[in-house]
Amino acid sequence: MSDSNATTSAESVPEPTSPKRRKIWRYILGVPAFLFVAIQFIPYGHNHTNPPPTASVTWDSKETENLVRAACYDCHSNETVWPWYSNVAPVSWLVQRDVDHGRMELNFSEGNLREVDEAAELIESNNMPPWFYRPMHSGAKLSAADKETLIKGFAATFDSATHHEEHED
Ligand code: HEC
Repeated sequence: MSDSNATTSAESVPEPTSPKRRKIWRYILGVPAFLFVAIQFIPYGHNHTNPPPTASVTWDSKETENLVRAACYDCHSNETVWPWYSNVAPVSWLVQRDVDHGRMELNFSEGNLREVDEAAELIESNNMPPWFYRPMHSGAKLSAADKETLIKGFAATFDSATHHEEHED
């Protein structure tokens, strides 16, 4: 009695190592692995260039400069540090978008300072640097004191008189 029961259940439920199970696992693991490899060949996300700077900012102090370099330069200058994972899709797509858009809005290496007046508010409200950037970049985790120094530094560096001339175009 119990013998025949065992046989029936063994037939209907495949053993962990049965060919059927192995085939299922090949799909469960194989399809994402295949897709992961395949997306690496998508051309977007590999344009990791740092064009030569055409302008530079004279920061009011070394302290401001260090903070801006650590918290903003990866996306708002031509001195982006491209970590290894920035080459791996899909992270590479996100990084590419951030750097392209970041540079478009504000680029300290090309004198693109039209939006610089927004900086203080974005720092104060924790919108810049973006939340997802902070865990991987210790220099971007700004303390209350860092934020204050940065905000004052931006004000001192981009004093409205000189600033006016810079965004004439
Ligand atoms: C991880 C990339 C990244 C970092 C780091 C970063 N930004 Fe940005 N920033 C962006 C992107 C992307 C935009 C374009 C707007 C958008 O798409 O969200 C932007 C836009 C801006 C703008 C334009 C204002 C606007 O309304 O769009 C200012 C000003 C700015 N950032 C300041 C800063 C400052 C100051 C820091 C450092 C404290 C900083 N950002 C760090 C990615 C970044």
